[in-house]
Amino acid sequence: MLEIDNLHAFYGKSHILHGVAFKVAAGEIVALLGRNGSGRSTTAKAIMGLVDTEGSIVWKGQRITGRKPFEVAHLGIGYVPESRDIFPKLTVQQNLLLGQKGGQKNSRWGFDDMYSMFPRLKEREHTEAGVLSGGEQQMLTLCRTLMGDPDLIIIDEPTEGLAPKIVEQVAAFLQALKARGISVLLIEQKLTIALQISDRALVMGHGSIVFDDTPAALQENRYIRREWLEV
Ligand SMILES: Nc1ncnc2c1ncn2[C@@H]1O[C@H](COP(=O)(O)OP(=O)(O)OP(=O)(O)O)[C@@H](O)[C@H]1O
Ligand SMILES: [Mg+2]
Repeated sequence: MLEIDNLHAFYGKSHILHGVAFKVAAGEIVALLGRNGSGRSTTAKAIMGLVDTEGSIVWKGQRITGRKPFEVAHLGIGYVPESRDIFPKLTVQQNLLLGQKGGQKNSRWGFDDMYSMFPRLKEREHTEAGVLSGGEQQMLTLCRTLMGDPDLIIIDEPTEGLAPKIVEQVAAFLQALKARGISVLLIEQKLTIALQISDRALVMGHGSIVFDDTPAALQENRYIRREWLEV
């Protein structure tokens, strides 16, 4: 579904990604792991057209390298950046509404789906998003992106700074997406959630993929964990 090959990315003169290659199949949860600064967020930005890139990004058979972010989104790739950007002065419901793409008819998802996955958002439906807790804001950004009906969702460190109970809810949410056939590229630093719910695990180091296998294989591979993950 998504096929990346020989991907390079640059911030001005800094060359950050060095020939990244991996695939995400339909309905698969793929974890992209790595230490701080390894290039995980840059990989997401490269796919979304937010940094200068070279190489091949093919989505549903179509080359999308260098497309504008809104074009990539319209082709069905949703993106939840690290920054959790909600509209603080708008209510929860208005934020969700903004996630819908113009002229959308048959979205797989509606308000009720979001509220049943995260009842807390229903309770706060008419509250300004700016006063929500960090966990609630994370739920809201996930849901807002989903309202755009993506076939693949790229999520950058959704559990960072969240309480264990909310991490569990986010994990359940991602599994619910998978159950409806949506692919997930999950950028994480924590191994636990990634190993629990992913079909495949990628490890990134210094701007390249250094491991690509099952979560079980990563669990057993002490060398990769020590060399590229543990701090
Ligand atoms: N806007 C930018 N301009 C210049 N360099 C950047 C910029 N953003 C990131 N970098 C550099 O690119 C490298 C990869 O950063 P990236 O954000 O992709 O890492 P990451 O794996 O997401 O880690 P983390 O989120 O923990 O920082 C780092 O060396 C970082 O300093
Ligand atoms: Mg990052």
